[in-house]
Amino acid sequence: MSKPKIVVVGSSNTDMIIKSRRIPSPGETIVGGVFATAPGGKGANQAVAAARAGGDVLFVARVGRDMLGDQAVAGFEREGIDVSKIFHDSTNASGVALIMVDDAGQNSISVALGANDALSPEDVSDAADAIKNADALVVQLETPLETVERAVKLAHKNGVLVILDPAPAPGAPLPQGIIENVSVIKPNETEASQLTGIEVTDESSAARAAEKLLALGVETAIITLGANGSYVATRDGIRTMTPSRRVQAVDATAAGDAYSGALAVALAEGRSIVDAVEFATKAAALSVQKLGAQPSLATREEIEKF
Ligand code: RIB
Repeated sequence: MSKPKIVVVGSSNTDMIIKSRRIPSPGETIVGGVFATAPGGKGANQAVAAARAGGDVLFVARVGRDMLGDQAVAGFEREGIDVSKIFHDSTNASGVALIMVDDAGQNSISVALGANDALSPEDVSDAADAIKNADALVVQLETPLETVERAVKLAHKNGVLVILDPAPAPGAPLPQGIIENVSVIKPNETEASQLTGIEVTDESSAARAAEKLLALGVETAIITLGANGSYVATRDGIRTMTPSRRVQAVDATAAGDAYSGALAVALAEGRSIVDAVEFATKAAALSVQKLGAQPSLATREEIEKF
């Protein structure tokens, strides 16, 4: 079977991580943590997750003309990702995220977007041929909304499956020009609450939020509920919960990205939504067992063995 063609439009960061027993409160200093750097950024994580899960991936992104940008691109090349549409920005530095992770694997993240914030609709148009010919397009919200909108419109118009991971949480409902061009939306509880105005805490509130997302124009809504699993609703009538996998969490960073990348590959391969969600759930569960974003992303073999 040939690999499905996946285009990811999104952010690339370098993550500076401290893992310590707990996340400090504002104004507080705590000592005793372990420091690491790792490649990250929601778009880049999803691109790497899709490549390791078996996708033929092209990544559309913007990095600075600096050492961190060069290192990130070299990393994508090692993953076999097509980097021909990664633009090098002379004005802005590469994106950087400061991440604190506690003993339970929960994190707190602050991102200086830098060049990610300059990824433009014109950059997307530059990658139009690849987007039109893809099996799936994957987007998130760590780049400007007008850029996301250009990408999803182009893909949808050309019959390409569009997967939106609406992270970081948008803070408000999304423009209709984005939402109506999305095939599959995959928010977590917080993101689903902000997108719909319905506070999502459990299966029944997730079900109500999913109905609202369907009414807004998406074909499939997958609301992830952490340890409680994923609620899936499709326009053609599926309503189901898929359980999550119990694992010992070291670092939850990029679990959602692992999920989205693997989901894109499975759906682009033509698997059913329930099979694809199970594949994605395994990829996410594997990712939380290691520290760092991209170092934690599983290969297809690891996902299938899990
Ligand atoms: O989703 C995890 C990612 O969020 C991190 O890699 C960090 O760079 C931020 O973009």
